Amino acid sequence: MHNTLIVFASNHGTVERCARELFRLIDGKVDLCNLNQRESIPDLNSYDTLIVGGSIHYGKIQGVIDGFCKNNKELLTGKRLGLFINCLYSGEKAQQQLEKAYPESIARHALVRDYFGGELDEKKMSFWERFITRQIIRSEGLEVMLYKDKIERFVEHLTTDRDEEA
Ligand SMILES: Cc1cc2nc3c(=O)[nH]c(=O)nc-3n(C[C@H](O)[C@H](O)[C@H](O)COP(=O)(O)O)c2cc1C
Repeated sequence: MHNTLIVFASNHGTVERCARELFRLIDGKVDLCNLNQRESIPDLNSYDTLIVGGSIHYGKIQGVIDGFCKNNKELLTGKRLGLFINCLYSGEKAQQQLEKAYPESIARHALVRDYFGGELDEKKMSFWERFITRQIIRSEGLEVMLYKDKIERFVEHLTTDRDEEA
């Protein structure tokens, strides 16, 4: 049976929601690992597929995701790998953020990489966070939304030939 680990970090819940949607869509055994909530990480060797996801704040992915990727470069490049980000931008700017988010050697190895859009939960945000994000949205004319279709396509790309191999 295939087994997948989804490693993620989420500041206010969007990445976690996407990770749970991936969990729902992927067949076989799937485990979730929220890096913000645990001190030890499951043994990566015991999974054939790894997914890493984080969100963009001020142009960067969370440090905990960056650290995880750098510390586990060898292992990540030896697996079926999918990488995603959540962010408010779409199109070219989102693509640029995605390219910067993961170390190149890992990104090159990934079978699929994508951005899934973003959300803002103002109740969970500080005054500054609300102020800054409202400014960005207004000045850049951004539409705040999640792309469910991208999540579905991500799963298809990551699992199609895996399922054929089985
Ligand atoms: C303070 C702050 C800064 C942000 N900076 C960016 C940014 O530079 N680019 C972007 O596309 N989205 C940015 N976002 C949007 C987040 O990536 C988006 O809200 C995402 O859904 C957050 O996911 P999370 O709550 O799971 O961490 C920012 C959000 C906040 C609150």
